[in-house]
Amino acid sequence: MTEDNAVATREPVTGDCTPPAVVLSAEGLTKHFPVRKRGREMLTRGRRAVRAVDDVDLTLRRGRVTALVGESGSGKSTVARLLAQLHPRTGGEIRLHGEPVTVKGGKAFRAYCRRVQMIFQDPFASLNPVHTVRYHLTRALKIHGRAGSTAQDQEQALHELLTRVQLTPPEGFVDKFPHELSGGQRQRVAIARALGADPEALLADEPVSMLDVSIRLGVLNLLRDLKERLHLAILYITHDIASARYFADETLVMYAGRMVEGGDSETVTQQPAHPYTRLLIESAPDPDRLAPDAESAAPAEKGSGEPPSLIAPPSGCRFHPRCPVAMARCRIELPPRFEVADRPGHWAACWLYDAAVTS
Ligand SMILES: Nc1ncnc2c1ncn2[C@@H]1O[C@H](COP(=O)(O)OP(=O)(O)O)[C@@H](O)[C@H]1O
Ligand SMILES: [Mg+2]
Repeated sequence: MTEDNAVATREPVTGDCTPPAVVLSAEGLTKHFPVRKRGREMLTRGRRAVRAVDDVDLTLRRGRVTALVGESGSGKSTVARLLAQLHPRTGGEIRLHGEPVTVKGGKAFRAYCRRVQMIFQDPFASLNPVHTVRYHLTRALKIHGRAGSTAQDQEQALHELLTRVQLTPPEGFVDKFPHELSGGQRQRVAIARALGADPEALLADEPVSMLDVSIRLGVLNLLRDLKERLHLAILYITHDIASARYFADETLVMYAGRMVEGGDSETVTQQPAHPYTRLLIESAPDPDRLAPDAESAAPAEKGSGEPPSLIAPPSGCRFHPRCPVAMARCRIELPPRFEVADRPGHWAACWLYDAAVTS
């Protein structure tokens, strides 16, 4: 079970006329990981690669949460790591406030990190067990030149960070070691450390999926509070599409390294257009859907199966082997983004929406 409470307490997405400023964007983002040839493959020509991310476009705006949803292995973490400049990319462009950026470590990387911070799935792995909360946060403040000039300034900055992530009173947490904290508290410390840089964008890679269900909502609400108070642009990566509906303004759906659908979260989750998004939603429990036996019903009678190999992905639409409504052209031609005519900004990379054929 995932965030049932979350879905029940969601708020409607309000439609602004002027969208907030773009903080971080990517165009044609591509990452192929080379793989070593083995055995007989040595005789074949050409290089083999895991095509983890292909031609991904996305935009993160100030004070907005964008969810990136997809099943395990679809390339979500790779997108986040590319945006954080932790991997060199195979192709495409990343822009920060419209300026193309490529950094490869050193000063430029640190300057970029100050503005774009990442939060990882496992807060235990991302905190060093031999150091206290004070050490982790002070280090982040110092690296980014925000520790002040006196010990008093530093202590105050530390307390502010802990208060911002609702670890109060700060004195009760500042000298604790990671093992003395709960999973939720550790993730809050990891978030505080990211905030130590005073970033503009936060890339949160499955930030609650390793936490107990009962505390997930608290951490998501904290991220929402940061979005609203600090106007952060947040990328929220999840395999749980129900939480995207609750928490994100916009939702993007990824399948086997490609974006397949996007739009405002309410539309994408309530009127999904792409057959893959429908499959994801059918397999996620959602109390708002009026099916009394929704949980006992087989999640996906149509379109079951496994995600494909990314070394030799299917031709045409990568979802076609699992798609219940695949047509002949889906096996051959890669579908571009088509507008789904229900809501502005709602699109799907699916031949079903090819207006040239349907009208
Ligand atoms: N460093 C790497 N080297 C080789 N392959 C990788 C590497 N990182 C990820 N991959 C592959 O890229 C694909 C996408 O992985 P990932 O981005 O972690 O997906 P997700 O986060 O959606 O589960 C997977 O097939 C994974 O095995
Ligand atoms: Mg991942």
